[in-house]
Amino acid sequence: MSAITVRRPEFVWPSDLPVLPLPDDPSRSCELVALSFTLPYLEPYLIRTMRVAAKEVRDPALAADVKAFSGQEAQHYKNHARVNDIVRSKLSPEAAADMRSLEDALDADYRQFSNDKSLAFNLAYAEGFEAMTFALARSVMRVADVEGVHTEWGNLIAWHLAEEIEHRTVTFDAYDTIVGRYAYRVAVGSLAQAHYLRHLLKMARVLQRDTHDPDVSTFAVVRQAIERNWRNGMLLGTLKTALPSYNPRDVPVPDEVVTIAATQGVDLRCSAPAGAEAA
Ligand SMILES: [Fe+2]
Ligand SMILES: [Fe+2]
Repeated sequence: MSAITVRRPEFVWPSDLPVLPLPDDPSRSCELVALSFTLPYLEPYLIRTMRVAAKEVRDPALAADVKAFSGQEAQHYKNHARVNDIVRSKLSPEAAADMRSLEDALDADYRQFSNDKSLAFNLAYAEGFEAMTFALARSVMRVADVEGVHTEWGNLIAWHLAEEIEHRTVTFDAYDTIVGRYAYRVAVGSLAQAHYLRHLLKMARVLQRDTHDPDVSTFAVVRQAIERNWRNGMLLGTLKTALPSYNPRDVPVPDEVVTIAATQGVDLRCSAPAGAEAA
């Protein structure tokens, strides 16, 4: 029995849904929407990886967490795919085609990783992504950050990030149990983060060009992302996951984040991950 709960929220997307979750901050909005567009490819890849990893897991508590992790990720990408279809329908035909081709390229990469790469590589990729997402969740789930976000967009993002915190230990524990090599985790995890962000920022550039700045350069999109995510602590939080002492169960979750997670029915005070007592 896992402490991780698989929830099935029903989001109601209005026909006048804005493409930009934060109309006053189009650059940040495009980064959030680009994040959403990566997930129907990234999260099935994580699930495929954990399906293979599950065959190597002997500990019943970790096996239950792996199953619940995949259940949560499946709900995440299905909901993101729905809103992505709505957003794509609101883009210009050229931008919609560009997004499709970037989505196809990302999907192709992840299918190739599942087919050709080792379980060690895929688990290290998964943990590199999950460590970065955990840092992102702690950085952006702040009252000042969620103010002004369109309600339904805000609910989707808060629910997803709350569950990312809830299942923060699963890929770490699976990697530690099955592979366990620190240097390899950091090396492949860093490559994974760079690979993922490169794809995400290409999508953000298409969205920026279509919604508010037709001439924005790749350099400007990257600079804005670095400045924003340095200010909010996400980059520093991600860098700290490369330390030998890093263990997600030891990282405090701010009270403000716990409060926002509770609005989505995720009680982070009660969801101590398996093995937390031993940490
Ligand atoms: Fe997720
Ligand atoms: Fe996740």
